[in-house]
Amino acid sequence: MSDKDIIISASILSSDFKNLEKEIKALNLSGIDEFHLDIMDGHFVENISFGQPLVETIRSLTTLPIEVHLMVENPKNHIKTLSQIGVDIFTFHLESENNIKEVIDSVRESKSKVGIAINPDTKIEAIIPYINFIDRVLFMTVYPGKGGQSYLNFVEEKINQLVEIDKGRKILIGVDGGIKFDTISYPYNSGARMFVSGTGILNNELGYLGAVNQLRKSI
Ligand code: DX5
Ligand code: ZN
Repeated sequence: MSDKDIIISASILSSDFKNLEKEIKALNLSGIDEFHLDIMDGHFVENISFGQPLVETIRSLTTLPIEVHLMVENPKNHIKTLSQIGVDIFTFHLESENNIKEVIDSVRESKSKVGIAINPDTKIEAIIPYINFIDRVLFMTVYPGKGGQSYLNFVEEKINQLVEIDKGRKILIGVDGGIKFDTISYPYNSGARMFVSGTGILNNELGYLGAVNQLRKSI
């Protein structure tokens, strides 16, 4: 399996915000393929993380694709502003309060890519009506809201189900939460090809470059 076949995306949620510029520059050189920015509104999940100003700052510090993971009740409200900043991929939750098709259409209008995130306890059937309209599905392998939680292996069954449903393999399947060198092979074997990792990269004694290499070697 060559490195090209997977996408490693760094979640910066657990990074050192005091030294954000340094952190982003180090991640730029670590071999990641994308940045994953977790936006939380304090309603959809309990925590509040960050918003547009920080996304804009990060946009100015990297040329890598940026995915925003919108853990918010009303994703539609955020699309226009964030797309003007230069966000490449919008991933919002199937469990959010908006009309899902309207959010998809709104992302399409902005010419960005669209993903749907699905919580660990949400059944796969709920996403089926939308799979022909989206670029990626992000399976949450932790309950959303914070970094550093343990990988939930029962989600693999849903990944298997989606692979079976999407026989043409048009959809990029991603996983988010608890992805480290000792867990990455499980969702990979189920069919995931995009891996979000926060503490697996940031809190790794090998350093960022070493951590990303280790993730790639562990599939
Ligand atoms: C959780 C976030 C994740 C988180 C991943 O709500 O969506 O992106 O930052 O962090 P780790 O890899 O530490 O589980
Ligand atoms: Zn995330």
